[in-house]
Parts: sequence; C-alpha cells; structure tokens
Amino acid sequence: MTAATATKTKPETAAQKAERKEDFIPIFKRLLDYMTRDEGAGKFYLGMAVRFVAVAALIAIPFMTGNAVDAIAGGDMAALQAWLMAALAATAIFIALSAWAETIFSKLATTALYRLQMHLFGHLQTLSLSFFDRQPVGELMSRVSNDSEAISIFYESAVSQLIRAGMQLLLLLVVMFFLNWQMTLAALLIVPVMLGLSAIIERVATPAFAKMQEEMGELSGFQEETLAGHKVIIANRRNDWAAAANEAYAKRVFDVGSHAFFSSLLQTPVTMASATMMIILVLTVGGLLVANGQLSVGEVIAFMGYAGLLASPLSIIANLTSTVLNAIAGGRRVFAIIDEQPAVKDAPDAKDYEFKGGHILFEDVDFSYTPGRKILRHNTFEAKPGQKIGICGPTGAGKSTIINILTRYYDVDSGRIVIDGQPLEKLTQRSLREQVGVVLQEAYLFSDTVMNNLKYARKGATDEECIAAAKQANAHEFIMNLPQGYDTMLTERGANLSQGQRQMITIARAMVAQPKILILDEATSNVDTRTEKLINEGLARLMEGRTSFVIAHRLSTIQDSDRILVLNAGEIIEQGTHDELMARRGFYYDLYMSQFKGKGP
Ligand SMILES: Nc1ncnc2c1ncn2[C@@H]1O[C@H](COP(=O)(O)OP(=O)(O)OP(=O)(O)O)[C@@H](O)[C@H]1O
Ligand SMILES: [Mg+2]
Repeated sequence: MTAATATKTKPETAAQKAERKEDFIPIFKRLLDYMTRDEGAGKFYLGMAVRFVAVAALIAIPFMTGNAVDAIAGGDMAALQAWLMAALAATAIFIALSAWAETIFSKLATTALYRLQMHLFGHLQTLSLSFFDRQPVGELMSRVSNDSEAISIFYESAVSQLIRAGMQLLLLLVVMFFLNWQMTLAALLIVPVMLGLSAIIERVATPAFAKMQEEMGELSGFQEETLAGHKVIIANRRNDWAAAANEAYAKRVFDVGSHAFFSSLLQTPVTMASATMMIILVLTVGGLLVANGQLSVGEVIAFMGYAGLLASPLSIIANLTSTVLNAIAGGRRVFAIIDEQPAVKDAPDAKDYEFKGGHILFEDVDFSYTPGRKILRHNTFEAKPGQKIGICGPTGAGKSTIINILTRYYDVDSGRIVIDGQPLEKLTQRSLREQVGVVLQEAYLFSDTVMNNLKYARKGATDEECIAAAKQANAHEFIMNLPQGYDTMLTERGANLSQGQRQMITIARAMVAQPKILILDEATSNVDTRTEKLINEGLARLMEGRTSFVIAHRLSTIQDSDRILVLNAGEIIEQGTHDELMARRGFYYDLYMSQFKGKGP
C-alpha cells in the first residue's frame, strides 16, 4: 500500500485485513525501538528491573497480611506485629520503586516521541516535490499531528503500564500456583470468559477507531484547506457550503467515534463483572478447603488478595488494547511516510556542484510528471556564463517545468542537462540548490520578522548584509515604513503585505543568498509598472554577471535577454535574440504584436 492511498475510506479488502494483522508485531517493535534505541536501552532495562522489584514487593503484601491473620487466630501478637511491619515496609518499597520506574519510563516516552518526530519531519524534508504533489498538505498535517498524538499516548502510558501488568500477571500466577493450585484453577476459570468478551469488544472497537482516525484526517484536511482558502470561499459566497460540508465531515467523525467509544467503554463493566465472579469462585473453593482443614483462613485471605491483584493487570491489558491498536494504526501511516523513498535521489557517486561560470546545456530533454503525459519534448538549448535567458510562451507550455528539472526537483525522462560540464544527475541536490537561486511568482514568507525572512536565505547572514540586499532590491524604503521596520512580524505567508512588497522581500532574500545562477519565474507579474521598474532595477543588479533565467508573460521584461526561448506545448519552437525572433515573424512576433497592439512597438 502506498502512502497516497493509505487514508482513503474505501472498504477494506480481505488482503488489506490480512496485512493489518501481519504487520502488527513489526510496527509494534518499530515503535518500541524509538524508546529502546541507543542509550535508551540501558534505561529501559533499568526501568524493567526497578519495576520488577516493585511488583515483587506488591505481591509479597498479601502473603504478609495472610500470615498476620493467622497470627491473630493463633494469638501470637509478636508475630502479628512483625508481619504488619513487613507489610508496611513492602508497601513503602512498592511505592518508592513504582515512582522511580514511572520517572524512568516517562523520560523514555518523551525521548521516543521526540526521536520519532525528528525522524518523520527530517524525512519529510528529504522527500521530492513529487511526493507533495500527490499529498494534500492538510491531510499530511493531520496525519502527522493525529498519528503522533496516538503514538504519544502509547509511549506515555501504554508501554510502562503493559510492562507492569505483564510482570504482575506472571509473578502472580507463579505465586498463586505455589500457594494452592485448586483455588488458582478456580480463579483462572473466569479468565477465558473475560478475555473472550474483551476480544469481542476489541474486534468491534479496533476497526471503529481506525475508521475514526481516517475520518478525523479527512475532517482536518478539509478544515485546513478551507481556512487556507477562506478568501476564495468568502469571495464566492460559499460560506454556507463550507459550513455544511464541514458539518457532514464532522458528523461522520461523530458517528464513527461514538460507535468506537461505546464499544470500548463496555470494557470496564465487563472486567468488573468478571472480577466479582472470580472472587465468588475462589471463596467457594477456599471455603471448602478450610472446612476440610486443608487450608487456614489466613491462607484463603492471602489468596483473595492475589485474586484481587489478578484482575487489575488483566483489565489494564484489556483496556490498553485500543490504545495500542490506535498507536499501531498511527505508526502504520507514519512509517509509510518514513519509508517513502525520495523520487529524486543523489547518485551513489554524486559530487558537489563546482561552479565554473554558470554554463548550462539542455540536450534533447523529455520530461513528464506522470507517466504517459509528456510535458517537455526535445528541449535543447544552451546558456553561456553570465547570459540572461528569457523564457516565454502560453500558459501551461512548460516554462516552470523547465525550472523544476533544472533545479532537479524532478528527474528527466530522457536527454541530458549539463551544468558547467557536470551532468546534473551526478551532482548532489544540496550543492546544486545552494548555487541556484529561485524567485517564484508566489512569494512565500514565514510568520517571522522581515529580518529573519531575509536571513532565511543563507545561514550566518548578518543584519548589515540583509539591509544591503534590501537596499539593492529597492525594498529598504518600504520596509523602513513598516511599523517596526525590519523587526515587523509578518503574518502567515506575509498576508499583511501587498503582493508587490512580498515580491520585493523575496527578491531581497535571493540577494542575501548570493546564488551563482538565478531563476525568476514570473517574479514581476504581480506589481504595478512603477514598482516593476523598481524591482527590475533590483533584479538587474542581482543578475549582473550571473547566468539567469527569466520567465515572463510580459515580453518587455525579457526583451533585452541574450537569448529568448519560445515554448509551446512543451516544445521550444523558436529561440534567439529579440531582434532575431522579430525578424522571423513567427510565434514570438505574433505574441509581441498582440501585447503591444495599440501601444506601438
Ligand atoms: N506537479 C505537477 N504534476 C503534474 N502535472 C503538472 C505539475 N505541474 C505542472 N503540471 C502540468 O505541466 C504542464 C506545464 O506546466 P507549467 O507549470 O510548466 O506551465 P507554465 O508554462 O509555467 O505555465 P504558466 O505560464 O501558467 O506558469 C501543465 O499542463 C500542467 O498541468
Ligand atoms: Mg509557470
């Protein structure tokens, strides 16, 4: 199952069900591994040992109280006092060691969750753009947060409690058989009934919880998308539709959720009823044995204490099944992301890109995002060091796509891209992207200060460098007019700035990065002509001496290019300087004439 299809609500096939069962243990182990890895291992075993002694102390208590009862019956006050003191001491040990074990396990839990989050988020950063193309960000976010939540509950409570319950159960059984096998059998008689009922409940609850998590994912995906697109929704007066759709999503979560919770809540009454049944059975057998003179009352009382201790680990294990299964469901999805391989990988013998002036060569490049739908065909062109290459053509022609493959966000189908004599596929992506700066039409800014948004471009950039860059980009003046100048906080994606201002900041950011090769994709299409002039001045300074690619619908922006590529339906149908292309009277000429109609060329 791929990550992309994992959260769809299609009914499960038999094969998928089988797969769910099969991967239970591996996923459980993998989750646990984040806890016990490296220096966690020692702490984990220490925690287990401490827990074991605590449980042993707990189990000693009924033995001591039983003996105390017999001491009362025998009138031996000294023995009574001794047993009671021992019981007190055991209780103290139990409490102290339990607390110690609890601190060890809670630290392990935090570490495990931290490691998993780091791993997941770090891995998301390595994935290629194609992964995000088929993965709505909202759904991804909800996966990351909901599934982490389920897993964190597993780490924080389930692991430690399961260990305690497991140890308690094992030790109890050993001691109980040792004390009296008849009563033990009587007590155990009820266990299959209890487990059987729990299993039935679990069988209903587990898929319900998995379903609930899926529905939650869809709900938050929808909400995230709606909030992100709230302007479009308001503009199109679709508020009612959004509210209604939200209600429908929420209702599905509610329906599935109530089903899940109802079935899991049945667990407690079932356990309690079984515990009572167990006591009645043990008392019956114990009473008979005492009447026959085979057992003392104290021994029956000690045994009752054990039978009482038996119920709690059983119910803990039963109650935690849903927590564990939730975490497994979460783990399955999180690991699906972690196991996702980046589509674009560095070659094993990849080298760092060595800048030698910025010579770029496309040789008969074909490319498609999805198999079978060619976006670029036979693209061949050359950019000499320091040249400005303009790219134009109708919308959807593949202009941005050329940039996507030049920056190696995607790999080409066939053909070759060579940069400064080095084949692109032999270069590390990191070194390539360090040297190639991209300014996109959609300026993306972070919720941070203007200064930090500028510094984002290069580690170690100083305030002075950023201000100098802003001045070059002609952005300094408007930044100084913001309420707190460079310290002004930008809201998410810079919504408190105008588009032109956002664009100027991204250009300044590119200047801070000081890339060797520069790419501008419709960087000036959002601004008025006066601002465009300001920006173009800034850009001209940025492009000076750098190989640069400028994509523009407005041909005036690229008119002065050393070479213009005219792209149509993925093919470069014409290329040359503005004058050469005009002289050809072809596609470019028509485009140019249509843009300047009435204005005179
Ligand atoms: N991530 C993607 N996955 C699949 N197809 C894509 C993806 N991005 C773009 N396409 C397709 O590739 C084709 C070229 O898109 P591209 O963005 O390169 O066009 P463009 O020339 O930059 O257009 P515009 O001038 O509107 O920016 C389009 O048909 C588009 O549908
Ligand atoms: Mg584009």
